[in-house]
Amino acid sequence: MSADQTEQARPQAGVAAGRGPTAAVVLAAGRGVRFHSELAKVLHPAAGRTLLRWALESLRPLGLDRVVVVVGHQGEAVRAEAEAAGLPGLHTVEQPSPEGTGHAVRVVADAGTLEGIETVLVVPGDAPLLRSELLAELLAAHRGPVTLLSAELDDPTGYGRVLRDGSGAVTGIVEERDADAAARATREVNASVYAFDRAALVRELAGLRSDNAQGEQYLTDVVAPLAAGGGAVAVRADAVSASGVNDRAELARAAGALRARILDGHMRAGVTVVDPAATYVDADVAVAAGAELRPGVHLHGATTVGAGAVVGPDCEVTDSAIAEGATVSYSVLRGASIGPGASVGPYCSLREGTRLGEGAKAGTFVEMKNAVVGPHSKVPHLAYVGDATIGRDVNVGAGTITCNYDGKAKHHTVIGDGAFIGSDTMLIAPVTVGARAVTGAASAISRDVPAGALAVERSEQRHIAGYGDRRAGHRPEPAAAEEDA
Ligand code: UD1
Ligand code: CA
Repeated sequence: MSADQTEQARPQAGVAAGRGPTAAVVLAAGRGVRFHSELAKVLHPAAGRTLLRWALESLRPLGLDRVVVVVGHQGEAVRAEAEAAGLPGLHTVEQPSPEGTGHAVRVVADAGTLEGIETVLVVPGDAPLLRSELLAELLAAHRGPVTLLSAELDDPTGYGRVLRDGSGAVTGIVEERDADAAARATREVNASVYAFDRAALVRELAGLRSDNAQGEQYLTDVVAPLAAGGGAVAVRADAVSASGVNDRAELARAAGALRARILDGHMRAGVTVVDPAATYVDADVAVAAGAELRPGVHLHGATTVGAGAVVGPDCEVTDSAIAEGATVSYSVLRGASIGPGASVGPYCSLREGTRLGEGAKAGTFVEMKNAVVGPHSKVPHLAYVGDATIGRDVNVGAGTITCNYDGKAKHHTVIGDGAFIGSDTMLIAPVTVGARAVTGAASAISRDVPAGALAVERSEQRHIAGYGDRRAGHRPEPAAAEEDA
């Protein structure tokens, strides 16, 4: 199952009722100065998705009418990543310069992108741990001009603080840099996630000023006037879900929390994970119930693992399919497909286009690329198989190499069903070894071998008597023959 199935809500039929047409605004125009990176912060990956993609995937199950991504720094790349998510109703709006989170939303309103919208959900592009369920809860609780998400943090450093009056009602938000000692002592922070009544939001955005410590138009500043005019409500989130990512230390921590969630989902669905702290499964990987992941396993991209398969220890698997009952240990797989019950490793490198059939084997120190290996065929030791098609029940001896490259072009090797390739055979492509044919050990095979034949290509063995003894300084045996051929 994929992680999404466990941790994210299904489309919430009826959640839209009562709040009218709803748009999300994703704040993704900032540079991410604290990352010290050329790459925009929202394009940094965590557990297999960019931060922006996490934000968009958290919105997907909500079935919103419109999703507006505000882009700025590296706008082209951020726009492309937003579009790659394929979310219905997606728009991007450019914020020409990063003048603050309030300015970002204002640019969206000024562009006319919120026409016909009643409720505006704002989410930051740098909070990959936000869960759909929390967003759905926030929208369900939304009545007045603003409903915001807050969380109680042990260490609230860096976050805006939620201000409340004596009766506990929310009165506003103050950024840490602008906060007095009393406000700083508050551990309830602003998660930067809000549901707004659009008309009220647009009205308050018009009055935003930038007379604060950062000289920016803060979105947080619209909360106080809205609270005064009709009430602001805070929905509480857990500390993990509300945490933002402002530097690479926080990115690593967030990735760890995402991984823990992903693995929890898999374990609850029946996957054995021997050591979750040493197992790295990306968000879009699918692992079937009954599979086992051993320590040091990294599963990336569009990888799938079937029931009863055992992966690890120490494997890096990218965009590969490992079928049911297969075993893979100490190996690197990229764009490979491993058939049911097949075995890989230890110490294999299986590259793009490798397809092992049912019950096939790629053993110790074997490299393959663009190679189809038929059912129950074995390549047990020390071999390179590239640009090859191997039939079923073939045995490829230790040290065999497909010589696929002549310095200019790649050529293909074909080995028929039931063939036996002797150890250290050089298969000089293009070449075909027929079904049931045999090659003698250490042969360099450059011509096609007929089905059922033996191909031997090597010089006869000679013995030079006494050579070894002379070399070692022994006296030659008196009756020794000069040569025995
Ligand atoms: C913001 C909140 C803070 C909250 C915290 C939660 C404000 C002023 N502060 O602070 O109260 O506790 O998030 O994580 O809103 N962005 C733009 N355009 C801009 C500036 C920022 O699109 O001009 C985007 C950034 O790319 C980022 C998001 O808005 O994805 C938040 O900006 P960031 O600078 O990270 O705000 P924080 O300082 O974390
Ligand atoms: Ca932030």
